[in-house]
Amino acid sequence: MYLESAAFENFRNIEKHSFTFSRGVNIFYGNNAQGKTNVLEGIYLFAGGKSFRHARERDMICFEKENARVAINYATEERTNKMEMRFFRDAKKQMYRNGVKILRSAEFIGSFKSVLFFPDHLGIVKNEPAIRRSFVDGAVSQLSPSYLAALMEYGKVLEQRNALLKNFGAYGSSFDVTFDILSEKLAACAGKVTATRAKYLSRLSGIVDTCLADMTGCAEHVELEYNTSISAFAGEELFDAAENTRRYCEKLAANKEKEKILGVSLSGCHKDDFEIKLNGRAAKLFCSQGQQRSIALAMKLAEGEIAREISGELPVFLFDDVLSELDAERKNYIISRLSGRQVIITSCAETDFDRSIKGAAEAQKIYVENGNFTVM
Ligand SMILES: Nc1ncnc2c1ncn2[C@@H]1O[C@H](COP(=O)(O)OP(=O)(O)O)[C@@H](O)[C@H]1O
Ligand SMILES: [Mg+2]
Repeated sequence: MYLESAAFENFRNIEKHSFTFSRGVNIFYGNNAQGKTNVLEGIYLFAGGKSFRHARERDMICFEKENARVAINYATEERTNKMEMRFFRDAKKQMYRNGVKILRSAEFIGSFKSVLFFPDHLGIVKNEPAIRRSFVDGAVSQLSPSYLAALMEYGKVLEQRNALLKNFGAYGSSFDVTFDILSEKLAACAGKVTATRAKYLSRLSGIVDTCLADMTGCAEHVELEYNTSISAFAGEELFDAAENTRRYCEKLAANKEKEKILGVSLSGCHKDDFEIKLNGRAAKLFCSQGQQRSIALAMKLAEGEIAREISGELPVFLFDDVLSELDAERKNYIISRLSGRQVIITSCAETDFDRSIKGAAEAQKIYVENGNFTVM
């Protein structure tokens, strides 16, 4: 899959610009706060359906403008596609695929596939579980519409169940009936989500390990360990969605009284996490900055590999500020792993690429200054 071009209008600090991308490495470079990440944010909208910075729609519209527009053209093996999003200050966004209006982001997600590395992802090793769940959810949602559907349904049911628990006194005798229905629905969605996450993580674990071992000359090995409310260390026993659902039902029933006191759902796949082990030890306790970055990157490379295996096409790599703080060996490894792929990468230092990129001459370089872009 290749991103051929992108057009921006009143998006963040980009008033109006169209880009044509090379099928290899594309480098956006320039000082801080010039608009490099804004470009990646705009492109990623079509892969993830929303801003990776968790921005509201209206915050992406250029200050003092009323609406914004981003469009991309991308090519798969079969055809060229055009997708477009329009944002309005006072109305919901509009989306189009090949000229046809799309009503829900879920219909969009999965057509244009990308792997994003954003500096926040460095927290994948040490930060809270939500960032690790969102890594898996972002990757799997692009590959499986049924996963995305189960996840969205889960979010809705969880919200309803928590609202019920918070205010159970008001429901009187109808509480138990409603509660049981919601618990059953929650367990059904959680069963599916957990089965898919378990399969994905077990596949990912081996590939991340290979990437990290390559990156470090076999000095570092990594292992991912999935932890859920229904099982502490989880492998194949979680691959069966129906069995998971049964176990979630048991768990939810056992926690009912406690949940009524606390007013919140205590078990379910919103509590999932996975532990990253580096050379057999919990990485979050021992990892250096550089090791964290390497693990996060290895996970991204592995994400791309699995996407290729499953969908038959390589996703587009969007790498924001990825090379800083890495030693030369790790930098070279990343760059060599990216060759043959389409990469859109941002950097503050032009020199990062001059010295280390194999075939730097072929890379397209775009200098960014105050929302303006010059192909160098
Ligand atoms: N809605 C907006 N309208 C206009 N400018 C914006 C908007 N949102 C962010 N900016 C500007 O974009 C710049 C940051 O762009 P960014 O792509 O994050 O920079 P960098 O080049 O460091 O990656 C800042 O100058 C900021 O003021
Ligand atoms: Mg940036």
